[in-house]
Amino acid sequence: MKRAIVIGATSGIGKEVALLLAKQGWIVGAAGRRENKLLELQQEIPSVHIKSLDVTSADAPFKINELISEMGGMDLFFLSSGIGKQNAALDETIELQTLETNGVGFTRVITAAYRYFRKQGNGHIAAISSIAGTKGIGTAPSYSATKKFQNTYLQALAQLAYLEKIPIQITDIRPGFVDTALLDEGHYYPMKMKPQKVACSIVKAVNHRRRIKIIDHRYALLVFFWRLFPRCVWEKPRYFLRKLFGF
Ligand SMILES: NC(=O)c1ccc[n+]([C@@H]2O[C@H](COP(=O)([O-])OP(=O)(O)OC[C@H]3O[C@@H](n4cnc5c(N)ncnc54)[C@H](OP(=O)(O)O)[C@@H]3O)[C@@H](O)[C@H]2O)c1
Repeated sequence: MKRAIVIGATSGIGKEVALLLAKQGWIVGAAGRRENKLLELQQEIPSVHIKSLDVTSADAPFKINELISEMGGMDLFFLSSGIGKQNAALDETIELQTLETNGVGFTRVITAAYRYFRKQGNGHIAAISSIAGTKGIGTAPSYSATKKFQNTYLQALAQLAYLEKIPIQITDIRPGFVDTALLDEGHYYPMKMKPQKVACSIVKAVNHRRRIKIIDHRYALLVFFWRLFPRCVWEKPRYFLRKLFGF
């Protein structure tokens, strides 16, 4: 049986991915800060191994290694942990907390997983970044910048694995808007997707060992056109963006 660790399994997309992997016969290790949510998950899947950890804390790699030992190994490291807020006011605390979780915390646990797989001689790292990494988003500067960071970091690891001749698969999952607690209340989000449906696409992409997966096809099309926008159109969108995407 294959073993997967899901960090950020206490809610939203990560929780649905953990449930689906368990249903498909994986041995699952679930982690996140909220212990009560991990215990709830354990009631749904009694076989799940749980560990409360905070990716922004220095002891996170140690706790991940404890979880790996309890599970008897790890084949897939799946990172869903992340925070994001609309922050046009540029509240410094929000901007820095986002960097701490999506930048520093991401790097802390992804590097721990890579080092484990390097020692093991193989493995699979999958992480949820976002389509927000495609362009800088004025109302969420730190969120979009950290998602771009994640895209680039995962690409660097894919090249590193190739250079080191170690079969470590890297999967970068980039969803559009998903109906989870991460979305700010009272804001309009077009083309919102259900986390269960997104989790299905994610698990399929992981099983097919995809390198990059944009979810869903509508967002894939959108991203294709976003990339073609000249800088002046993106940076001064006014009427265009408000009308089409609600930003
Ligand atoms: N929802 C969307 O529209 C959307 C779109 C694109 C990408 N994404 C990305 O998808 C991922 C999952 O988000 P979601 O939508 O499922 O939101 P969510 O329901 O809020 O889930 C976020 C998860 O991250 C965990 N987390 C947050 N800070 C953490 C920390 N310091 N240490 C450990 N775990 C931490 C949370 O667990 P605890 O609070 O228990 O620690 C929770 O399990 C995020 O990376 C997000 O950026 C979301």
